[in-house]
Amino acid sequence: MKLWGGRFEQGPSEIFERFSGSLAFDRRLIEADIRGSQAFARALERVGILSAEERARLVEAFDEIAAEAKRPEFFEGAEDEDVHTLVIRKLRERTGALADKIHTGRSRNEQVSLDTRLWLREEIDRATERLLALMESLLELARRYPDAVIPGYTHLRRAQAVLWPHYLLAYFEMFSRDWERLRQARARVNVMPLGSGALAGSGFPFDREALARDLGFDGLTRNSMDVSADRDFVLDFLYAASLIMVHLSRLAEDWILYSSEEFGWLELSDQVTSGSSLMPQKKNPDSLELIRGKSGRVFGCLNSLFMTMKGLPLTYNRDMQEDKEPLFEAADQLSGALEMARAVADSVRLNPEVPAAAAEESWVVATDLAEALARAGTPFHRAHQIVGRLVLESVRQKKRPADWSAEELTAFAPEFTPEMARLLDPREGMKSREIAGGTGPGAVAAALAEAAQRLNEMRAAR
Ligand code: ARG
Repeated sequence: MKLWGGRFEQGPSEIFERFSGSLAFDRRLIEADIRGSQAFARALERVGILSAEERARLVEAFDEIAAEAKRPEFFEGAEDEDVHTLVIRKLRERTGALADKIHTGRSRNEQVSLDTRLWLREEIDRATERLLALMESLLELARRYPDAVIPGYTHLRRAQAVLWPHYLLAYFEMFSRDWERLRQARARVNVMPLGSGALAGSGFPFDREALARDLGFDGLTRNSMDVSADRDFVLDFLYAASLIMVHLSRLAEDWILYSSEEFGWLELSDQVTSGSSLMPQKKNPDSLELIRGKSGRVFGCLNSLFMTMKGLPLTYNRDMQEDKEPLFEAADQLSGALEMARAVADSVRLNPEVPAAAAEESWVVATDLAEALARAGTPFHRAHQIVGRLVLESVRQKKRPADWSAEELTAFAPEFTPEMARLLDPREGMKSREIAGGTGPGAVAAALAEAAQRLNEMRAAR
């Protein structure tokens, strides 16, 4: 069955049908397609195209098709052009000629927009749930080791000491921006396109507001040509998904490093690691590597749809059918990666003494010393020089910060006071960073509490 054909003297070739068909992937929209069509049947009743009795027969037949579609055999042998065609064929099998009325004043161009919006709205909700769950797990992981000290890095060189919760809260912030982006994407998805017709607006006076209410949309699209031409809402989601994957990938990379023998900070659970078929000792961080690896596929999906859309003349072009596979692919990878990251975070253990020792044996306290000198009146540039020389001397003598006594320090440079020797312990320097957003223990405790409250607000916001 086709939804067109009167104007043609020949049918499509087998090659063209195979090349252009989308049922193999857009079948994932079937539930949305049926829900949209049921609402559309009610709209057709309101404009007098269907009687109440006809509408009831169609809605019921759609329910039956939806139930049947849950069984895998449903799609076996189906050769329809796309999911919309399949659903109407099934409707005709059940309701005969009455089915021919369902597409009155409706185009597949708006229908595919509607179906994608309905599907994506749910998918965004699923991703949002998983994102919030991961954020909760990160807060729990922070609370498990509230006082742990780690060296923070720039250029992957030990830079300044920070608290473990401060490090995790950095990811919490990235993910809370991601949460906002998902919400914004959802708001653009959640407008109702029906009534647009193929591109010029429907020839029937549908109550679009009623349709929007029926399908749970917050608003209406405003221009029929825009509806036929637009896939911004898919790109918005793909961008939001891509940025989440960037953040997940960086977290994965950090933890791959931190759990290596070279770092030895983290112990990943057996449940999220794999062994080697040859080397009996190996315990590999495959879960994290795959999060990092799959991120590239999601960026590919975003790029792919950008390429598809650029240069398309208004309005609909069949090229736009190519939006589905990247959308489904990205949504699946995102959801899987969020779930995996959470399982890793829930089961990881920190060995706090290892990063603490890494902080103590390195010169992460250098900035603290230079700033103490500056507070005591030494111009900062001069203070920087003095501490730089102290580090150089320590490297020469193989001395760690803790190996310096107060007397040796003041003997090294008269600007040092004996009191400043306390700053040779990385925990001490952090106490001077009680600025909002800094790693001072009080600031971090407050940030952790604030983050937990914000997470509750995000949960309540949907
Ligand atoms: N399968 C098509 C798609 O996904 C549906 C719209 C078809 N419209 C058309 N004018 N051929 O884009």
